[in-house]
Amino acid sequence: MNLSIVILAAGKGSRMKSSKAKVLHCISGKEMLYFIIKESLKISNDITVVIHHQKEIVKEAMIKHFGDKINFLVQDADNFPGTGGAVMGIKPQHEKVLVLNGDMPLITAQALAGFEASTADITMSIFDLEDSSGYGRVIISDKGVERIVEEKDANEEEKSVSTVNAGIYSFSKAVIEKYLPLLTNDNAQAEYYLTDVIAMAKKDGLIIEPLLVDEEHFKGVNSKFDLSTAEEIMQGRIKEAWMKAGVSMQLPSTIYIEEGVNFQGESLIENSSRICGDTLIENSHIKAGSVIEDSIIKNSDIGPLAHIRPHSHIQDTHIGNFVEVKKSTLKGVKAGHLSYLGDAQIDEGTNVGAGVITCNYDGKSKYKTIIGKNVFIGSDTQLIAPVIVEDDVLIAAGTTVTSDKIEKGSLSVSRAPLKSVAGFYYKFFGGKS
Ligand code: UD1
Ligand code: CA
Repeated sequence: MNLSIVILAAGKGSRMKSSKAKVLHCISGKEMLYFIIKESLKISNDITVVIHHQKEIVKEAMIKHFGDKINFLVQDADNFPGTGGAVMGIKPQHEKVLVLNGDMPLITAQALAGFEASTADITMSIFDLEDSSGYGRVIISDKGVERIVEEKDANEEEKSVSTVNAGIYSFSKAVIEKYLPLLTNDNAQAEYYLTDVIAMAKKDGLIIEPLLVDEEHFKGVNSKFDLSTAEEIMQGRIKEAWMKAGVSMQLPSTIYIEEGVNFQGESLIENSSRICGDTLIENSHIKAGSVIEDSIIKNSDIGPLAHIRPHSHIQDTHIGNFVEVKKSTLKGVKAGHLSYLGDAQIDEGTNVGAGVITCNYDGKSKYKTIIGKNVFIGSDTQLIAPVIVEDDVLIAAGTTVTSDKIEKGSLSVSRAPLKSVAGFYYKFFGGKS
C-alpha cells in the first residue's frame, strides 16, 4: 500500500446538463465517485478527493459511505481551473501518486495493477478509439510519448490521432513537486492542464511509460448517454458476481440489482425484477416484474408484480400478484392477491384475503396494524389502524374493522344487510322476465 491516490472530482461536468455535480450521478444505486473510492481503498491508505463544485454536498455524500477513511482537498478553481489546478496543493504520503478521475466509475483495483507495478517517472493510460472525439490525443514519435493535445487545442492532423489519453496516471512524487508549479493556462480553455506535465517531463528526459488499457474499465462518463452505458456494464458485473455466488436469474439482462443488495443461500430471480438499496434476499423466489426496496426477504416467494417497499421484513411468506407491502413484518403469512399492507405486523398461519387493505394513514399520521397467529382475513377487508387483531380470529369478507382490538377466538363482521328486489332489473332497463 505504498501508493497515494488523488481523485479529481471538482469539475462541474457541464456536458451532463444537470444541476447535480457530475460525480454524484448514480449508477446501480450509488454515486459514480463511490465506486472509485471503494476500489481505491483496496490498494491505498492515502486517498485525497479533490472537490470544488458543490463541495459540501459531494463531501457529505462520501463521508456517509467512507467516514474518515478519505481526505478532501478543495481546489482553488477560480484561480487555478483545470485538471492541473486540481492536483496543486496535494500532500501525498507515499513516493508514488496515482491520479484518477471522479467520472470513471468502472475502474477496478485489478485494472490499476499496471500502475502499481510500473517504475517509470510517469505512467499514463492510453487506448485506441475509432471515435476519439472529446479526449486528449496522445502524440507518439519513434522516441515514445511526446505530449498530449486536448481536443480544443488540436489541429486537424492531431485530431485524426486515434490514440487517446484515458485520463489516469501515476507520477513519482518528485515529478508532481517539480512540474505542477511550472504549468501555465496558455491554451484554448485557459485552464491548467495536468496533461502538460508529460511534454515537460519528456523534454527533461524522464521515463514516460504508456499503458494500454481497456475501454470497459477506463471509460469516462461525460454525458447521460455515457452514464447509461456505464450502468449497463456495472449491472453486468453485479449480476455475474451474484450468479457465480449461486443466485439463479432468468433473462438477467432484464433484471436490475443495485450495489449493496445481498443474497444468501439459493434464490431464483425472474425477469424484469428490480432489487434496490439495502436489501437481503435469502433462499427466496422473486417472480417476474417485482420491485423490492431496502427489505429483508427470507424463505419466501414474492410476486409476480409485487412491490415490497422499504423496511419490510418478510419470512416464510407467500406474497402474490399486485400486493404492496411497506414497513411491515410478515412471518409465515399468505397474502396472495391485490393487497396493501403498510405499517403492519402479521404473525404465523395468517391468511390475508384478496383486496385486504390496512388503512394506516388518516391524513395526518401513520398507525400500526398488528395481527396475530392463524387469523383468517376475508377478502376486501379494511383494517382501520391503529388496530390489534389477536390470534385465531375470523374476519368475514367485506368487513371494515373499526374497533381498536379484536379478541382472541372471535368472529368480526360488518356488513350492510343484503336487500334483493325481485324484478327490478326489467322495470329499470325494460324487457320482460
Ligand atoms: C481529461 C484530459 C483528457 C483525457 C480525458 C479522459 C486534461 C486537461 N484532459 O479531459 O486528456 O482524454 O480527461 O477522460 O486533463 N476536474 C477537477 N477540476 C477541474 C477540472 C476537472 O477536479 O478544474 C476533474 C473532473 O471533475 C473530472 C476530471 O477532473 O473528474 C476530468 O475532467 P474533465 O473535464 O472531464 O476532463 P476532460 O475534458 O474529459
Ligand atoms: Ca472526462
